[in-house]
Amino acid sequence: AGTRGEAFAPANIALCKYWGKRNEELNLPVNSSLSVSLGKLGTRTIVKFAKNADRIYLNGKPAPEYFASRTSAYLDLFRPEGVFFEVRTKNNIPTGAGLASSASGFAALVKALDQLFDWRFNPRELSMLARLGSGSATRSLYGGFAVWHAGQRADGMDSYAECVYEDLKDKKIPAQPSCKVWKNLCVGILEVSKARKPVGSTDGMNRTRETSELYNSWPHQAACDYDELRTAIAAEDFPMLGKTAENNALAMHSTMMAAWPPLCYWKPQTVSLMNKVWKAREDGLELFFTIDAGPNLKLLFLKKNQAAVKKLFPKVQIVSPF
Ligand code: DP6
Repeated sequence: AGTRGEAFAPANIALCKYWGKRNEELNLPVNSSLSVSLGKLGTRTIVKFAKNADRIYLNGKPAPEYFASRTSAYLDLFRPEGVFFEVRTKNNIPTGAGLASSASGFAALVKALDQLFDWRFNPRELSMLARLGSGSATRSLYGGFAVWHAGQRADGMDSYAECVYEDLKDKKIPAQPSCKVWKNLCVGILEVSKARKPVGSTDGMNRTRETSELYNSWPHQAACDYDELRTAIAAEDFPMLGKTAENNALAMHSTMMAAWPPLCYWKPQTVSLMNKVWKAREDGLELFFTIDAGPNLKLLFLKKNQAAVKKLFPKVQIVSPF
């Protein structure tokens, strides 16, 4: 083992969402999901050995309790007897605002641990270890498009992520080169709130699975959207990609609202931004959105429409996924 590990992992946003666990301890999902990375936005983590206790820092300061305890609990999975860690995490995205910072966080941490312990695991293996920290972290080992196979095994050994193009190749689906690098695809972040979400993803998923009648239709919708998105990516069909992603997000949020007690991550501003997107689309702009378990929107559009999007949403933060 070395004395230090350091790694970066990108945030990712799901175009077909992971919502529902078949096993909570191993974060095994009900459905397969598909995401696109946020390129340079994500988490950089340094991990070293420490004396007496774990020391967890977030953005240069001692981490808040919720963050430190979740990190230490994860480290317990790998901790040799009597060993402690110093972990320094820096996000260039807001933590806990539904911008998938737990995803990039656990992916960066597991990559840094791989160096520290000199495991030399491959990305698939690392994706399964990241999954134990947070489900969406499974997909954050890769840039660009990633798929997370739900798998069927009880031990989760078939529940890993890989690049979409690997998956398309395996399934012998002919694909445009853009499945690796879709250069003119843009993601725009519209931040509504930086606050931590009132109900965490795990609790939100469990509540939805247990109480929402609409959740019964979710696995089927997710499976169809997942196939549709792979087809859209293989064909570089942007309208199909955007439509499927937006519809998938709204279907997921509908299952939550039909839960009891009801679960709604939206703020009034979320809804007005959604309406603005719909209006822009009616006026002919190819613009779509997706929303995770939070109030913020992520816009999907092509580079040629960047100026139009900026004009409509002056505060949009535009990122290239590749
Ligand atoms: C709505 O990965 O945060 O963003 O596995 O409990 O840590 P845990 O959940 P998490 O859930 C993400 C939910 C989502 C959809 C997605 O990213 O696929």
